[in-house]
Amino acid sequence: MIKKGIILAGGKGTRMSPLTKAVNKQLLPIYDKPLIFYPLSILMLANIKDILIIVNKGQLNQYQKILPNGKNLGIKISYIEQSKPRGLPDAFVIGEKFIGKSNVSMILGDNFFYGQNLTGQLLENTKLKKGARVVLHKVTKPELFGVAKIDKNNKIISIEEKPKKYLSDLAITGLYFFDNDVVKYAKKLKPSKRGEVEIVDLLNFYKKKKQLTAGLIGRGGAWLDTGSIDDFYKTSSFVSAIENRQGFKIACLEEISLNKKWITKKNINDSIKFYGNCEYSNYLKKLIS
Ligand code: TTP
Repeated sequence: MIKKGIILAGGKGTRMSPLTKAVNKQLLPIYDKPLIFYPLSILMLANIKDILIIVNKGQLNQYQKILPNGKNLGIKISYIEQSKPRGLPDAFVIGEKFIGKSNVSMILGDNFFYGQNLTGQLLENTKLKKGARVVLHKVTKPELFGVAKIDKNNKIISIEEKPKKYLSDLAITGLYFFDNDVVKYAKKLKPSKRGEVEIVDLLNFYKKKKQLTAGLIGRGGAWLDTGSIDDFYKTSSFVSAIENRQGFKIACLEEISLNKKWITKKNINDSIKFYGNCEYSNYLKKLIS
């Protein structure tokens, strides 16, 4: 079972400037909570309780105000600062000590997942022992994403970043599961023309060894990448529509922990005090009433 996870929550946030000039993208709101809550909830749903959050140099304080150490969620959160955005695989180089001898999952801080059976799929993926697993989702504009072509056993036969010629309509989402070799491979990578180490190059090490497999999110599931201002508002509307219709919150971290029995009512009461008099606290009150 994979028990460790990394959230990559740094980045320049260029596409969202000026919003991201003073505040990191992952701390901006998706409807009623900071974006970082959503990827964190995904790792928690996958029963991953030991979590490293990688943030930009100088932004650690901002994060620790909202997610100090995970204690009140029954999990362990640690942080590392990334001196500059060197690319996604850099997570495994700067996270080497955290990873140790374990297998590890990584989620991009700006990725949003929601849907039926998601938890079951996540737990399935954490069973990975050897190789790497990516999570794929069908999209209408594959030319905008990293995409993968798979065979009938869900083995990946080719991957390409933003393909000009049609390869497949399955986009590689920002959720990955790796064996411990990822550290060794990540260290071998050289920056591409845009000056970053590339996740596709990292995945290719595994593909060459025929160790790269795919998990698929079906049509009952949603994957949204919140990289642009427009995506941000669309994702917010999605969350608002579901929450207001059902009365359940998406990515309420305390609710996930309580359901998993990682925390008690006392922790929820502490959280209510911490958040203060707000709609999120009212929801927490209802959970324990
Ligand atoms: P990107 O979408 O590649 O970059 P970005 O968020 O900085 O946005 P923009 O393209 O508008 O400048 O990054 C995906 C996620 O990974 C995002 O949440 C930021 C994070 N990230 C890091 O934490 N470190 C890195 O080195 C990179 C490249 C990204």
